[in-house]
Amino acid sequence: MEVIGTLEALRARLRGEPAIACVPTMGNIHQGHLSLVRIACEHAPLVVTTIFVNRLQFGANEDFDGYPRTFEDDCDSLERAGNAIVFHPNESQMYPEPQVFTVEPPAVANKLEGRFRPGHFRGVATVVLKLFNMVQPHYAVFGKKDYQQISIVRHMVEQLALPVRIIPAETVRADDGLALSSRNRYLTAEQRSEAPRLNSVLRRVREQVEAGDRNFEAIEFAADAELARHGWHVDYVVVRSRRTLMQPGARERELVVLGAAKLGNTRLIDNLEILAPA
Ligand code: PAJ
Repeated sequence: MEVIGTLEALRARLRGEPAIACVPTMGNIHQGHLSLVRIACEHAPLVVTTIFVNRLQFGANEDFDGYPRTFEDDCDSLERAGNAIVFHPNESQMYPEPQVFTVEPPAVANKLEGRFRPGHFRGVATVVLKLFNMVQPHYAVFGKKDYQQISIVRHMVEQLALPVRIIPAETVRADDGLALSSRNRYLTAEQRSEAPRLNSVLRRVREQVEAGDRNFEAIEFAADAELARHGWHVDYVVVRSRRTLMQPGARERELVVLGAAKLGNTRLIDNLEILAPA
């Protein structure tokens, strides 16, 4: 596997490649990321995984400095999964000067995650556009684990006519249902055993809605209360339209339940797609 650190070297290496699939990550590679790499391998002969902890998408009180950086281990795992190239720019390669041109996403970026992480999706959209311009991939794989992120990236690609196809990947979970995340390592043993409740509460919401209950407010309230009862600080548990991430229309069937909640200082997110009955 090749490791490339500069834009110049990346451009030289990729020139003339007929098809490239890209997997953007912030590293601390786990099975969720590796599933994206495997999907990427099915779409193009050359897979470029990017590893860059993007300062722009972290809020002032978030974990940018403490974000796990495990580059050597990441490379071992990526190589075993069939990844060909790791693009690992440092801060001064990516942002040689302060990034004053940014991508301003639409209003939906200020809801849900954006409400609790102001500016987060501006930082994500900006770095994703920049990575796409660097790698110039034909395909890019994103996880549904970050549902709002993939939705915003897709919308950006469509509105800015970017020549890349976004491939969604299902969320990879531990056996107990907890969605894999780099932030799970912040959990104490006690919190780790509590953490799967987020997923089980979302599953309950899905069951209720799939059984025909459309009283979303009551369902959301009960889910929120159940988590709070077990010591969670809930940011949101909401049922939304998959298409718009806004309140579902009266007959809308393709829904998603999204949840974000903190256990101690660790903030976890999860979601499940729901198909409501006709
Ligand atoms: P990161 O959190 O490292 O995630 C990289 C990719 O892996 C994202 O597309 C994310 O949705 C996916 N992913 C994370 N956990 C997953 C899981 N359990 N199952 C399946 N996919 C999973 O998301 C980012 O980095 C950044 O915002 C980035 C897009 C790289 C821009 O900086």
